[in-house]
Amino acid sequence: MSTFSRVVVLGTGGTIAGRAASAGDNIGYTAAEVGVAQLLAGVDAPAGVTLAAEQVSQVDSKDMSFDIWRRLADRCAAWLAEPDVAGVVITHGTDTLEETAYFLQSVLAPDKPVVLTCAMRPATALAPDGPQNLRDAIVVAATAGARGVVAVCAGTVHAAADVQKVHTYRLDAFDSGDAGPLGYVEEGEVRRLREWPAVDASARQRFETMLAAPAWPRVEILVSHADARGTIVDALLLARRQGEVEAVEGLVLAATGNGTLHRSLEEAALRAQADGVAVLRATRCMQGRILPRPNEKLRDAGALTPVKARIALMLELLKSPA
Ligand code: SIN
Repeated sequence: MSTFSRVVVLGTGGTIAGRAASAGDNIGYTAAEVGVAQLLAGVDAPAGVTLAAEQVSQVDSKDMSFDIWRRLADRCAAWLAEPDVAGVVITHGTDTLEETAYFLQSVLAPDKPVVLTCAMRPATALAPDGPQNLRDAIVVAATAGARGVVAVCAGTVHAAADVQKVHTYRLDAFDSGDAGPLGYVEEGEVRRLREWPAVDASARQRFETMLAAPAWPRVEILVSHADARGTIVDALLLARRQGEVEAVEGLVLAATGNGTLHRSLEEAALRAQADGVAVLRATRCMQGRILPRPNEKLRDAGALTPVKARIALMLELLKSPA
């Protein structure tokens, strides 16, 4: 752990900041009520680390928005640029944590750590998991040599690219799939199993474009399933041809297995692609990646889940102001 460093904790809401009427209630609470400074008050800083808190938003993460993402990325970049700041922690709801983590890694890919953490039980619970998760996240953020955007939950460190919420109720609700966790936090120390996420110089360009863009492109996710139809794609295309404001610019198709699509959906997606809509296939399987096959007419998103493929496509389609 580095000595005499600052860790900045940015609050965005979530169950970690949730409040219920009774301590025995772990599900009937209101998310995003307790301020981040109050959350920090219950956590002791590791030796040599000073803590600072900033409230960036206060939302249930199901309501996460591009505006909050933009503000969050901006605040992360500003704090990480301070020489005495070792890293940033973000308290976040579990429901879209993996999306925010992937977005931040895409636009920051920082050489210092940005650590998202959360809780499955509200702050008012009999045995809340938030304080330990927050303490573990601070430990990761203060660890010498740590870098990149990661998530910390239930003593496990996950890389932004791999992390997925996989359980609706258990405290250990996240998984890194085939990649496996990046490491563990044990009694205030990180036991790392693999490399920190790579620093990516091209993230700076995405960051600048994202901050300057007048609007985010509309990218929809559609699922391929038994008896799927192309009618929603065709309705989106019709609206686009009629000049609808915020017309669809991209489609992510949550494909079966190794990236296959129901033939009706595939035919409609090809019509959309011919009309200038960017189309990406992402597997709806929980694990694995799409292994490319020759002569595919629609691009695939590799190992990205549909929600992460959507973020990748939106960032690709973001336009600089004219
Ligand atoms: C949320 O995502 O904000 C609510 C659920 C949670 O944090 O577990």
